[in-house]
Amino acid sequence: MTSAQRKDDHVRLALEQQHTHSGRNQFDEVSFVHHALAGIDRPDVSLATTFAGITWRAPLYINAMTGGSVKTGAINRDLAIAARESGVAIASGSMHAYFKDPSCADTFRVLREENPDGFVMANVNATASTDNARRAIDLIRADALQIHLNTAQETPMPEGDRSFGSWAAQIERIAAAVDVPVIVKEVGNGLSRQTILALVNLGVAAADVSGRGGTDFARIENGRRELADYAYLHDWGQSTAACLLDAQDSGLPLLASGGVRNPLDVARALALGAGAVGSSGGFLRVLLDGGVPALIARLAAWLEQLAALQTMLGARTPADLARCDLLIHGDLRSFCSDRGVD
Ligand code: FNR
Repeated sequence: MTSAQRKDDHVRLALEQQHTHSGRNQFDEVSFVHHALAGIDRPDVSLATTFAGITWRAPLYINAMTGGSVKTGAINRDLAIAARESGVAIASGSMHAYFKDPSCADTFRVLREENPDGFVMANVNATASTDNARRAIDLIRADALQIHLNTAQETPMPEGDRSFGSWAAQIERIAAAVDVPVIVKEVGNGLSRQTILALVNLGVAAADVSGRGGTDFARIENGRRELADYAYLHDWGQSTAACLLDAQDSGLPLLASGGVRNPLDVARALALGAGAVGSSGGFLRVLLDGGVPALIARLAAWLEQLAALQTMLGARTPADLARCDLLIHGDLRSFCSDRGVD
């Protein structure tokens, strides 16, 4: 199995998941208390956000997905055009395919070529050498580096890694060696409070909790196995809402992704303390089903609706949403009491 084939498999199976997902997740267990006189005027609302010294025009980003094959290079080109036209940040998929085979460099470079002035993030795993982390950043002139943690993906992956013990030390080395902010992210299984507290000491600028509720990589990798004998790992981990609640006051700026379905989920995640909110599988589906114009329209609609929600909720900025009153229901409420979250 070449790495290019694996990248194509991931896109195919992630898309299949998008078409078969129940549509429910734990964001449904977070509600805003409705205050009928809280509203403000739309012109007083700004979408700009600042976290870890980074300022974005909007608190939304296209999260890490792909690159490394002809097909995924074309997807990266389309995602980059949509990011450019919408003014949202974008992340590359894992760039290890480029380290193994530099002839696929263009499938990543296109992220910068199509979006010369946008905020673009490179992406590596926690085994990348410091030299390779720098090469990834240089290739796309990245504004930040994402390091992904994906033990629950590697475990059922037929050709997966089984050595996780050196990851923390390597994150620290990479963070010390590169001159852009480092964002550590999960891939859909969530970052626990304990993990985030460990990251605080490793020189990381921010953590993207990327929790359960959307793309499920254990399911994707199990689907690539001949026997599909890891089905018990499906739905592993903590939801994005649970991660954000668990990580309150952990000392690291937080980003949120994983199962974000609509502008209300974006507002919920911002209200739970995220500085910005990302989506991967959902945006991929819009792109592959409807093309670049559909994704540009979707991003514009999300930004407009987020501003409308902020207007109704009385939040002049995305950060102001964190002052809104929230109700936590169901299993999420039990999670909070089990974890001692107020
Ligand atoms: C991903 N994701 C991902 N993450 C990462 O850090 N490096 C990567 O190479 C990839 N590859 C990848 C491929 C595809 C097709 C998808 C859909 C996703 C994970 C992604 O960034 C995100 O963390 C999860 O998908 C959860 O978000 P959604 O999809 O539920 O919005």
